[in-house]
Amino acid sequence: MIQKCLFPAAGYGTRFLPATKAIPKEMLPVLTKPLLQYGVEEAIEAGCETMAIVTGRGKRAIEDHFDVSYELEHQIKGTSKEHYLNEIRSVMDNCTFSYTRQIEMKGLGHAILTGETLIGHEDSFAVILADDLCDNANGQTVLRQMANIHKKYPDCCVVAIEEIPMTDTNKYGVIAGNLIEENVYKVDNMVEKPESKDAPSNLAIIGRYILIPQIFDVLRDTKPGKGGEIQITDALLTLAKQGKVLAYKFSGVRFDCGSVDGFVEATNYFYKKSNLK
Ligand code: G1P
Repeated sequence: MIQKCLFPAAGYGTRFLPATKAIPKEMLPVLTKPLLQYGVEEAIEAGCETMAIVTGRGKRAIEDHFDVSYELEHQIKGTSKEHYLNEIRSVMDNCTFSYTRQIEMKGLGHAILTGETLIGHEDSFAVILADDLCDNANGQTVLRQMANIHKKYPDCCVVAIEEIPMTDTNKYGVIAGNLIEENVYKVDNMVEKPESKDAPSNLAIIGRYILIPQIFDVLRDTKPGKGGEIQITDALLTLAKQGKVLAYKFSGVRFDCGSVDGFVEATNYFYKKSNLK
């Protein structure tokens, strides 16, 4: 079982300025719920009980969101509005939160390494990038589907992938590998944000990972890569060369809520599904 889930949440969210000037981008709501809460609910569904959040300066709203607001509770207790708190209360009843701060922004790999102090070295753990918002098609969240694969191959990391147009390869980590069972590839190459002419395939990594604890030692030795940042993709390539990385083509949908287009699509999608209409 995967019990801990790491959420890198220290980024600036520059693409959503000015909205993200004083509000963490992870707190932007799709309908009435912040992006990060969707991620936490996915992790709970996949069996995680501990949420480890790597924050940074200006991110206090995240901690307040996953805590009791006594004033609010007092105001609406027993009124017809109380049900609005049901979802967040259920999240808080079903997991615990721990936080650490990333002092300098040195890339996703560095953010994950910063979370080592919260995760420890005992078990494999999940990573969710909350701005990749996923919804399941077959009753199982993307992370749950990945946890099932990891159960079968406990010595391997698992990354979630989807097919993208070749013109978009420079936005993602891109993998190459051999199909070993339906929708599962053994990865032998991975490149961070390659131009389409250099991309090994059109299979892009989305923001869901299951990582083995060895990743921390590998990250410590990983030199800055694309953009001068420490890339999780480069660290995973080291493990892929040891036969320890699988890529899983998930079922479901995924929205890139780090872009305005993706955010609007997600909003429309969840609005259609909701009872808010
Ligand atoms: C990160 C990773 C990239 C991955 C992407 C998924 O990039 O570095 O490999 O494909 O997340 O969303 P970012 O979107 O943070 O630039």
